[in-house]
This record gives sequence, C-alpha cells and structure tokens, in this order.
Amino acid sequence: MSWGLSNRVSRLTKDGRMVMLAVDHGYFQGPTTGLENPRATVTPLLPYADSLMLTRGVLRTSVDPSQKLPIVLRVSGGTSILKELSDEVVTTSIEEAIRLNASAVAVSIFVGSEHEKETLANLSELVNEGERYGMPVLAVTAVGREMARDARYLGLACRIAAELGASLVKTYYCEDFHKVVEGCPVPVLIAGGKKLPEKDALQLAFNAVSEGAVGVDMGRNIFQSSNPVGMIKAVRAVVHEGKTADEALRVLGGEQAAKARLR
Ligand code: R5P
Repeated sequence: MSWGLSNRVSRLTKDGRMVMLAVDHGYFQGPTTGLENPRATVTPLLPYADSLMLTRGVLRTSVDPSQKLPIVLRVSGGTSILKELSDEVVTTSIEEAIRLNASAVAVSIFVGSEHEKETLANLSELVNEGERYGMPVLAVTAVGREMARDARYLGLACRIAAELGASLVKTYYCEDFHKVVEGCPVPVLIAGGKKLPEKDALQLAFNAVSEGAVGVDMGRNIFQSSNPVGMIKAVRAVVHEGKTADEALRVLGGEQAAKARLR
C-alpha cells in the first residue's frame, strides 16, 4: 500500500475504529427525510463524526470548506429510485476527489443484480485509478431488491469487493455477521439501514463491532432521530468506548435532558 493511501485510510480512523456519518442518500433518493436541507442537518453533527460520506454536490454547497473532517466522496450514481438501481456509472473522477481533498472515494457494487458486472468494473477501475493517486476506495455492498441480507450473500459481496482491491467495505449487519468479517481481508463497516428505534440501532452497532466491524457508516438512524446530536454521541460511545446499547442510551438520555434544561 502506498504511503499516501495508508495515510488517507488512517485519517478516517480514530483509535482503530470509525464513526462515518453517511449523508449521500440524495444521490438516488432525492431529498430524503431528515436531509431536505443538508447544511442544516450536517453542521451540528460534524464535531462528533470521524468522517463524512457524501456527494460532491452536497459537499460543495452545504459543507464549510474550513472544516477539518475527512471526506469520503460518493463517486457512483446515475440512477434514481424510479429505475433499476444497479445501473450505476462512475460519476466523479479521482482528480475531482483529489481537488476536493477527499480521504477516500465510495462506489456501490450490486452483486447478483442485473448490472453486477458493470458495478464490479466500476469498482475495479476506481481501484486502478486510486492506486495511481494514493486514493482508497470504499466499496458499498448495495442490496438489490431481491437479495437476502444473510451472511452467505453479504460474505460473498464483501469478499468480492476485497478481492478486487477495495481498501474498506461497507455492508449490512446480519445473523452470523462474524462470518462476513472473517471472510473479508479488509476492514468492514456497517450501514444502519432504515430508521430503527434508537436502542435497536445502538444494539446493531454494538453487535457489529463486537463481531469484528471496524465501525459504522451510519445515516438515517442518526439524522432521522428526534435527537441527532445525542444519537451520534451515543453511537460514538458504542464504537469508541465499547459501551453497551443500554449504556449508550443513557448518553442519549443525558443529551435529551440537557436539551430540555436549555429550553
Ligand atoms: C446508501 O446507498 C448510502 O450509501 C448510505 O450511505 C448508506 O445506506 C448508509 O446509510 P444508512 O445508515 O442510512 O443506511
């Protein structure tokens, strides 16, 4: 691994773990609930994230360039929720990622879906370009509508991503998740998925890191919470301090009580 690539990966990590805040959903979902005004959503959360995952459009319009948070730039897209989701292309060049001072680029792969081959080619081409410039690639194992989220399927997708050269892989938590991690020779992060009750989302994060995930790349379970700042602090407590879901819920409760006192 080149020095530059290793350095960029290390920027994403604190104490060997990662809390990546995902706010890239609009690239195919449009103005997702909670992200209608990206600047308003993201700004208060920045102090508590280790890195921020988003598209160049939201980065350029909604994030102050003076902030120091490492950026993971979503560079695949070209589809919407109205069409076949796997039909993605690479939307943003490595040169643009470097101009935006990104610490990594992110691309989705759709293993088993209609455009599996094209999305694996997108990943491979980005890895080739990334090697040239020292830019790590985060592969996102997107789950097509028909795909089961089990260890067999997610293990297959994660391993393929690693074999093609991804530096990091983002996937979903599932039963026997440790098998997914064991079969994937690069660090694995989990997405949060659809909004869950806070305790369930914290339990998901706890289970994932207990079974070997390096951290979370979480979006909706943070920014759709009634208390997004409290929720990201609670997620940090799980990922970085090894707190249980119940302990982290007290972090969230404390944040809520402090907010109420200020009212
Ligand atoms: C999905 O395609 C996006 O890449 C999101 O970043 C990802 O799903 C993580 O966000 P969430 O925790 O909301 O699932």
